[in-house]
Amino acid sequence: MANTAAKPSILIAATGWDQEAWAAPIVDAEPNRGIQFWPEVVDPDNVGYAVVWRPADGLFTRLPNLRAIFSMGAGVDHLIFRNDLPDVPIVRMVDPDLTSRMTEWVTLQVLTHFRQQAAYARQQKERRWHELRQPAAGELRVGIMGLGVLGSDAASVLVRLGFQVAGWSRRPSNVAGVQSFHGQDQLNAFLGRTDILVSLLPLTPETRGILAMPLFRKLARDGKLGSPVLINAGRGALHVEMDIIEALDAGVLGAASLDVFETEPLAVSSPLWDRRDVFITPHCAAWSAPETLARHILKDIAAFEGGAPLPNVVDRAAFY
Ligand code: NDP
Ligand code: OXD
Repeated sequence: MANTAAKPSILIAATGWDQEAWAAPIVDAEPNRGIQFWPEVVDPDNVGYAVVWRPADGLFTRLPNLRAIFSMGAGVDHLIFRNDLPDVPIVRMVDPDLTSRMTEWVTLQVLTHFRQQAAYARQQKERRWHELRQPAAGELRVGIMGLGVLGSDAASVLVRLGFQVAGWSRRPSNVAGVQSFHGQDQLNAFLGRTDILVSLLPLTPETRGILAMPLFRKLARDGKLGSPVLINAGRGALHVEMDIIEALDAGVLGAASLDVFETEPLAVSSPLWDRRDVFITPHCAAWSAPETLARHILKDIAAFEGGAPLPNVVDRAAFY
């Protein structure tokens, strides 16, 4: 006989996002499971799971029977610092679709700088046929800060392309072909061998503001690109925008690719927009695709209700 007991419903709470697009695949797969939306929440007592992005103040106090919180993205800084979090697991998004999207973006940016795409675009405007000297990938040292799910995948692709790749993490890492550095003690050595610095760190009290002038000055000065390059897709608050501008003006950095900003959207008045040495994308490096990720969450919930532990639970003490 089919189990007809009502399953706890799922609340989708992401103001400004297409909440219906996240609900549709869940309704498709499990028509009998209730879906509720923020801010209406018609039956708060029945909400077992909250699928959230930047949840509104007061949301959690309205949900007395919550079993787990799912972040619609990989990062959890949008909720982890609040003081009203219930004592339930917080699951962050780890999905091959999200990972591939980030790896595409990182690879695109590394290749853009390495293959001197900005210079060729300028030459094209001038109808100028002129070949620039091109180093080999094996001569370039890429350093990835944050060698987690996203950093490791990007690192592996860059290794495959022939770059010298290193990673910096909190604990020692083991990614094939990637030189491992970890902790504050090894940060300077990591920076000193890095021509292109890729940031895929989470935002935590330890990482906030880390991408600033003192760190930029420690990057390699003897690389094939002339000056080192910064690529940040982690979070905007990891970097200090005024320091990036000063570093570019002073030649401490040669160029930057930024997907994330201290304030988003980036202000129209920001001096970053006009720079030829800065590539800007609007926090889209790895978009959370509703269809795929909602199905992923439903699978986690089904396994959890069948007795399996939830995967990718955030370590609250580490803030990621
Ligand atoms: P993970 O948790 O898998 O990886 C985080 C990495 O950062 C780990 O290697 C961790 O070290 C390292 N780390 C954390 N704190 C420190 C520290 N204090 N010093 C050194 N290393 C540290 O996260 P993901 O790879 O899944 O995601 C990373 C971040 O990317 C997200 O938090 C989010 O901010 C951002 N992101 C951005 C997107 C965009 O579109 N721009 C999309 C998705 C994510 P250890 O391995 O030792 O734990
Ligand atoms: C994420 C993001 O954390 O989209 O997934 O930034």
